[in-house]
This record gives sequence, structure tokens and C-alpha cells, in this order.
Amino acid sequence: MKTEIASVDNLLAKEFSYTQAVDLLNEGETVAFPTETVYGLGAIATSESAVSKIFEAKGRPQDNPLIVHIGSKEELSTFTQNVPNLAKTCMDTFWPGALTLVLPIKNDSLAKNVTAGLNTVGVRMPDHPVALELLRRLKQPVAAPSANRSGKPSPTKAAHVYHDLNGKIPLILDGGATGIGLESTVLDFTTEVPTILRPGGVTKEMLEKVIGQVNESKLTDEAEAPRAPGMKYAHYAPDAPVYLIEASTGKVGQAIEQIHNDQKKVALIATENYRLAKADYYFSLGQEHQLEHAAHLLYEALRSCDETDANIILVPIFSKQGVGTAIMNRLEKASNGKWFES
Ligand code: TXA
Ligand code: MG
Repeated sequence: MKTEIASVDNLLAKEFSYTQAVDLLNEGETVAFPTETVYGLGAIATSESAVSKIFEAKGRPQDNPLIVHIGSKEELSTFTQNVPNLAKTCMDTFWPGALTLVLPIKNDSLAKNVTAGLNTVGVRMPDHPVALELLRRLKQPVAAPSANRSGKPSPTKAAHVYHDLNGKIPLILDGGATGIGLESTVLDFTTEVPTILRPGGVTKEMLEKVIGQVNESKLTDEAEAPRAPGMKYAHYAPDAPVYLIEASTGKVGQAIEQIHNDQKKVALIATENYRLAKADYYFSLGQEHQLEHAAHLLYEALRSCDETDANIILVPIFSKQGVGTAIMNRLEKASNGKWFES
């Protein structure tokens, strides 16, 4: 299959690209498109055969449910039921936006493989002009996980999608770099107190201001469905191993020296205050304490390491405040919890 990249940045190209995308989706094909978080790989959520093409292209385990995207709130009642009032408040406050709500599903309303057989469904309305235009023209819910090969960092540019899925999907709508750069917050409304299953751009602090107490799941989303006992899904992982390290230029300098003494090469992913460390490769996460900007740059930095011959990737940790919680969640998964030991 040839993978086409379609631009949506001028009027003529735009019209043609959306028509092509809507036609492909209606024919039961997959289409990659930008959202404000990361690029998604979409298929019509009511078609089991279309949704199965997502799992196939990504190499995604079948027991990991997909997020359903909608372009208008009216679509919600076709596949959810008993939506709690607090969930409605969240929709009014944060949609369109980077918040996925887990709600009770209406029987036989969506393809079974969207929800991995659960009686709940994750749903959000993305805040991106291209995603919204596509969804509003299609007028149907679209199941869309991040458009990367399973296990790799999520794509924040069309080129990342092409790198991972070239030959496996027919079309990528290119809307430039995504804004937030980390996936949406997943908030479960089927528990007594709403529970964050995956931290993201909409933080616990922001949620609690609007709906009161919110819990954080200890075992976050993917960790709950291990492939085999004791084995977690690989996530956000570059080819070389990622090690977390204390946020100290001294510690990082010593670690680099030690890695060099072992005749190995090191890539450093860190904010600008580490630029002068003597790593073989340095990928910037922007100015210190600018957490939103670091989130925006993180996945591209992790991907860039695969273009180097570094044997080890070092990442100084971030404080778990605001978006820092989401950044650390992804880094803990990318590193599989490994710390650099001197
Ligand atoms: O920002 C995002 O959410 C992106 C863009 C494309 O919208 N999508 C995304 O999808 O990250 P995905 O499939 O890569 O992540 C879906 C996450 C999974 O970790 C899954 O476990 C959780 O949402 N999820 C989906 N449905 C669920 C459900 N019914 N119950 C619990 N967790 C669910
Ligand atoms: Mg994903």
C-alpha cells in the first residue's frame, strides 16, 4: 500500500484532502490525522473490520482499548449511557480538549474491538482544527489511538507517522506539529471518585478546581493489562535503553564521564541548562522549568535518539507538578523505571 501525505494548509489542497479522508474512512480504511495532543490513526468506530486495521498497522495488542473521537456532543448519546453530571461538567469545561472520559457504553453501539470487550468507552472531542473538520464532515465517531508503531513514542509530526506506518496506511493528513505533544488525560467516571488513569495536559489540579476530589490510579492504564505475568508493555521506548538520573548538572557530568570510560556513547535529553554537558548527542527540552514546552519537545527528542549510535540515553527527571506529572509518567515508562547507577 502506498502511503500518501496530504497537506491541509491551503484552500484547494484542503478541500481535496478532507474529501479523500472522509471517503477512505467511509470505505472502512484508516487515516492518520493531527490532534492537539499527538497524531491519531483513525477508523470508523462502529466497524469492526475497519478498527482491526488500526491494530494491524500499529502492531497493537488487542486487549488495549482505543479512544473514540467525536466532533459534536450529540454523537455521545449514540454510544454512551448514564453519563454522570460531573462528567458533563468536565465536557463543558474542557472540550474540545485533551481530556478523555471513560463512561459506560451502550450495548452493541460500537465495534467490540474498540473497547477490548469492556463495558466502558474512552471518549474525547479533540481541540484541533483539522481533527474537528474531519470529524464534523464525517459525522460519525472515530476510534483513534496514537499513530505510532506500538511501543514507540507517539507521533507529534506527520513525518513521525510516515516513519512508523509507511506502507501500512493509505493517508496521513499533515497539519504540522501538534501543540501539547503528550496524549490526553484519561479520567475514569465509572469509579466512585473519578480516577485519572493516565496523566496528561489537563492536570489533576485543573480537574479538582472544577469537579472536586479526583484520585490518581497507582497502576496507570497500560500497566494494568500486562501481556504476561511480570511483563509490561514497552512504551514510548527508543531503541537504546533510557535511564533516569537526578536533576543535577554535576551528577549528569559524572555519569557521562563514566559512560565514556566504558567506551560507550550517550545521548542526553534535557533542558538548556544541561547543553554544555559533554554528551555525544544532546536533544533540548527547552528552557528549565518550562514544563509545557518540554512536553511539546519530548517525543521528538526520544525519536531523534534512534537516528544516532548512542548506546545509552540519559534523562534528568522533572518535578511532578502540573504537566510534570505527565512528563514523568511517560519517562518512567520509556525507561521502564531504570535509574542510572554510578
Ligand atoms: O491524546 C490522545 O488521547 C491520543 C489522540 C490521538 O487522541 N490518543 C491516544 O490513544 O493516546 P491511545 O489508544 O494510544 O491511548 C488510549 C489509552 C490507553 O492507554 C487505554 O488503556 C485507555 O486510553 N483507555 C481507552 N479506553 C479505555 C477504557 N474503556 N477504560 C480504561 N482505559 C481506556
Ligand atoms: Mg498510544
